[in-house]
Amino acid sequence: MNMKIIYDDTQKDLPCDQLLHLFKEVGWASGDSNPEHDANFNIGHKNSTLVISAWDGERLVGSVRVLSDTVFRSYLLDLVVDPKYQNLGIGREMVKRCIAHYPDSHWLVGAADGAVGFYNKCGFTGSNGYLSIPGKYCS
Ligand SMILES: CC(C)(COP(=O)(O)OP(=O)(O)OC[C@H]1O[C@@H](n2cnc3c(N)ncnc32)[C@H](O)[C@@H]1OP(=O)(O)O)[C@@H](O)C(=O)NCCC(=O)NCCS
Repeated sequence: MNMKIIYDDTQKDLPCDQLLHLFKEVGWASGDSNPEHDANFNIGHKNSTLVISAWDGERLVGSVRVLSDTVFRSYLLDLVVDPKYQNLGIGREMVKRCIAHYPDSHWLVGAADGAVGFYNKCGFTGSNGYLSIPGKYCS
């Protein structure tokens, strides 16, 4: 695929329709329509500490959000890449950019079984579903 992916770490207010579409593509959101729910689908992102998104032109092709105190502990949440854009390095790039924002932090992620190998490649270790990268001050 010939494309240039642009990463954005400034916009938390991701377009609800595109975010919902992305979540549906990986089976995280149902096809049921609830106008109030759909219109507020990005509220978790808006209220997060950091959001990284990946764009192919106007098309949202990946996103991740972080809850963090910015120094000690940071949690990765809702990392998703459009299936048509997976295995191109987009997921790893977004994780790398998150960590670069708060490099001293202890990083945690609750990984689905199928994603553990991916997070290991991003530097996370651990078991029982919770993977982490030690921080400067705590682990
Ligand atoms: C998991 C996910 C975010 C990975 O994103 P991606 O952009 O496809 O991954 P990348 O291309 O950056 O992969 C980086 C490396 O991890 C590997 N990898 C990717 N997905 C993997 C997986 N599920 N298991 C093991 N390794 C994986 C790649 O082969 C690549 O390895 P390499 O360095 O040897 O080439 C993506 O598959 C996805 O959105 N899945 C559905 C949602 C999901 O499960 N999110 C995680 C929530 S816990």
